[in-house]
Amino acid sequence: MTKLAIMGAMEEEIEPLLAHFDNVKVTEFAKNKYYELTYNGLDIVVAYSKIGKVFASLTATTMIEKFGCDTLLFSGVAGGINPTLKIGDLIIAKKLCQHDLDITAFGHPHGFVPEGAVYVETSKELRQIAFDVAHENGIEVLEGTIATGDQFVHSSERKEFIESTFKADALEMEGASVAVICDALNVPFFILRAISDTADMDAGFDFDEFLKSSAKNSAEYLIKIVNKLNN
Ligand code: ADE
Repeated sequence: MTKLAIMGAMEEEIEPLLAHFDNVKVTEFAKNKYYELTYNGLDIVVAYSKIGKVFASLTATTMIEKFGCDTLLFSGVAGGINPTLKIGDLIIAKKLCQHDLDITAFGHPHGFVPEGAVYVETSKELRQIAFDVAHENGIEVLEGTIATGDQFVHSSERKEFIESTFKADALEMEGASVAVICDALNVPFFILRAISDTADMDAGFDFDEFLKSSAKNSAEYLIKIVNKLNN
């Protein structure tokens, strides 16, 4: 690895990461800020994309193509679907899909477009490092499927559709788009989320209440993973 990208979607998701770094150089590009730094002998670029698949795709592509990052880690929050996931719990994506991608009118399955795939898998090596770190630190983490869409899900109906259609364990608004970009550009990637709400009627309220604490849970675990990358 020569340069590591660390992404979040919202400022609250990268704030607890940036707190670990100093001597940060800020570069503006495409209406966004990129934070360049060196940590433990690793060159790192940190950014938050803004919410949603389009902004996340732009940021991931920029980090890879403009800043030369060759590994990407994502940290943030998600809505829980799997009932074992409580607010604050951690989930590592094994694979991701786009729950709002729909050309079923032409006989294709939900989440599929020609020459694409319903699911994109994350790097097995990075997941293994994350599990080693979890094990060493007594951190509990679930590995599962994350569904992404340009919707803040706050209804049982939509949540159940995503659960039954994609067998998803959690949902959010950026992961699968980052996955598509990294897969296309051959960059190993890893998506970590901590649960901020359970995507039902109370989701908006819970999200506001738990965004910061859950984002911190995700970030603190991610830093431990970064510490392991250079060992
Ligand atoms: N991220 C965190 N909670 C979410 C939800 N309920 N819907 C979409 N993205 C989320």
